[in-house]
Amino acid sequence: MRTRLWLFVSSLLAVGLVTAEIRYGGQSASADENKPAPPSDKPVPQEQTNCVRCHLTAGRELTEAVHTFAHSVHDISAGVTCHDCHGGNTMDDAKAHTAEFDFIGTKMSAHLAKCQSCHEDQHKELASGPHAWDQQKKLNIRYPLCVDCHGNHDIGNPPAEFSLSLVCTECHRGFKTKFESLAMLTDAEDDMWNAIIQWRSGQKDPKVRVPADLEEAVADIRRSTSSLVHKSTPPKAEDITPLVEKMKKLATQIRAVTTASARR
Ligand code: HEC
Ligand code: HEC
Ligand code: HEC
Ligand code: HEC
Ligand code: HEC
Repeated sequence: MRTRLWLFVSSLLAVGLVTAEIRYGGQSASADENKPAPPSDKPVPQEQTNCVRCHLTAGRELTEAVHTFAHSVHDISAGVTCHDCHGGNTMDDAKAHTAEFDFIGTKMSAHLAKCQSCHEDQHKELASGPHAWDQQKKLNIRYPLCVDCHGNHDIGNPPAEFSLSLVCTECHRGFKTKFESLAMLTDAEDDMWNAIIQWRSGQKDPKVRVPADLEEAVADIRRSTSSLVHKSTPPKAEDITPLVEKMKKLATQIRAVTTASARR
């Protein structure tokens, strides 16, 4: 997760594992355990830096990061690559991982500063709500981090089992009764994303993210949702209902396109 606004199979356990994995990373395999990756038809990133080339054969989670990243929005349309987040030297393999070139391994607080440096608006939104914590201090995992809701390597391409609602429930007992309107919103968001993911699985070109004629509508809904969820101020039901209705309509439209193209 990524943890990330990815909608994952609904089991608290699954979300727990995913969160733990993202936050704490896996222990990296030591170099001598790394066998060359078997040939695979998994996607590879557009930009073939030394980070990408070497990690492709480094094995296990060192390689998995590369394939997962390859279909993320950062790879597909943002021109972001490994060293934009992790730092490191892309010219000299021997110095790829050195502090001298600002390499960030898995240090989460350093990663969050990177997210912030490119996404100042979203950072400010989050900082204005109840999930804000003093970033000058030690990482505070009582609060949801960018990667809990968005993932890290799979940003914009959440696994089918990701669920935003489950992310909220993980920390908020009685979420659905206590924050009824926000819960309606996160449920509708999960359902809309399920429809998008299903549609995407039938597409050959990963750059095509949603049906062309629904692009505007999706972007519009995401903008409205983004700010509401980042700020997490319990909104009034009457502010939420129209947005939830729009999401439901959109999910239905996306499913209709999916079914139509499956029949073709
Ligand atoms: C958008 C920022 C971002 C980009 C781009 C990115 N990473 Fe990461 N990466 C992270 C974060 C965040 C973590 C998790 C750190 C933690 O768990 O504490 C991570 C963790 C890792 C890990 C540790 C194992 C794991 O999967 O958790 C490896 C290896 C890794 N990244 C390699 C790469 C490679 C190779 C690329 C380029 C193909 C890449 N990363 C691109 C943010 C990024
Ligand atoms: C010559 C091969 C090679 C190159 C080039 C390379 N890596 Fe690695 N990388 C590895 C291996 C092997 C490991 C695991 C052992 C280790 O930590 O050194 C690793 C580990 C990592 C980790 C996990 C570190 C941790 O603390 O768990 C990250 C993140 C990472 N590399 C990112 C990058 C980035 C970003 C670049 C490009 C600037 C890069 N790598 C270039 C082979 C490489
Ligand atoms: C070097 C700059 C850079 C860094 C670092 C970066 N991003 Fe991004 N990110 C972008 C750009 C540019 C886009 C816009 C892509 C687009 O919409 O085509 C983007 C898009 C996104 C999106 C929108 C996803 C979607 O489906 O449209 C999310 C969410 C996001 N980033 C989260 C993060 C998080 C979380 C981190 C840190 C782990 C991060 N970003 C680090 C540049 C960056
Ligand atoms: C990692 C744990 C964590 C996650 C995940 C999380 N929260 Fe929170 N949330 C908190 C904490 C801690 C507070 C502050 C509680 C306090 O100050 O008493 C909070 C406060 C809130 C508040 C304000 C509470 C109030 O009484 O006004 C809302 C609303 C809220 N969260 C909504 C959400 C939503 C929606 C999600 C999912 C998208 C979510 N939270 C995910 C930990 C979390
Ligand atoms: C509690 C969950 C949560 C956290 C924490 C969170 N986001 Fe988001 N974010 C969302 C939701 C929900 C959306 C909008 C819905 C969608 O993408 O479909 C969103 C949307 C976005 C977008 C899309 C562009 C837009 O319209 O705003 C970006 C970029 C983004 N978030 C970056 C970040 C960054 C950077 C952080 C950390 C500073 C962060 N988010 C923390 C839930 C979260």
